[in-house]
Amino acid sequence: MTQDALKAAVADAAVQEISPWLDKNTVLGIGTGSTANLFIDRLSPLRDRFRGAVASSDASAERLKALGIEVLTLNSAGILPFYVDGADEVNAALQMIKGGGAALTREKIVAACAERFICIADGSKQVKRLGQFPLPVEVIPMARSHVGRELVKLGAEPVYRQGVITDNGNQIIDCYDFTIDDPIEMEARLNAIAGVVTNGLFAARGADVLLLGKEDGVARTT
Ligand code: 5RP
Repeated sequence: MTQDALKAAVADAAVQEISPWLDKNTVLGIGTGSTANLFIDRLSPLRDRFRGAVASSDASAERLKALGIEVLTLNSAGILPFYVDGADEVNAALQMIKGGGAALTREKIVAACAERFICIADGSKQVKRLGQFPLPVEVIPMARSHVGRELVKLGAEPVYRQGVITDNGNQIIDCYDFTIDDPIEMEARLNAIAGVVTNGLFAARGADVLLLGKEDGVARTT
């Protein structure tokens, strides 16, 4: 099976996962990226069964609207029953690296408001140890060099993601060759650097359910 077919399979599985819980008041949290896009597409036929969605990026908001799904602000929606999103890496503890699509800050905010985070990913995203994928860090532009120097002190090789401005008007530094022994501790340490908006470790609040696409089917882990 292709990677795209595996992503489609987990998007289908996520629809099955949430479908019994939908009602006219339900507002869903929706992630960003190619796997999340497949999930959004599959929500379209169900749009009359739930109220709407909060999106973690302008791109996802546009896709939802184009399919006739109402997009609400997070402040008006309150607590969300589900947040469905992809990942760049996920470990056995359902901790993740996210932000390959530069949407990490809004993803983390929407996830923080969700009762259940459902991670949908193809099997290539499963890792024993987080950090092979370069860890994204969103920074306030004036702090980029300062944050870069601090990241070097922590053992990372920081690379400025040129030409990318986040939906929040900030910049991204990707941390290469980064040894992450304790994801929860590192998430907090990175967030404590002045100028860091957030980082792509989703460890303190990981996923609650992982739907992982493999050759022999979708594996569900909680
Ligand atoms: C975007 C993300 C995505 O969830 C992550 O990059 C995975 O993307 P894809 O589903 O395209 O593989 O964190 O910021």
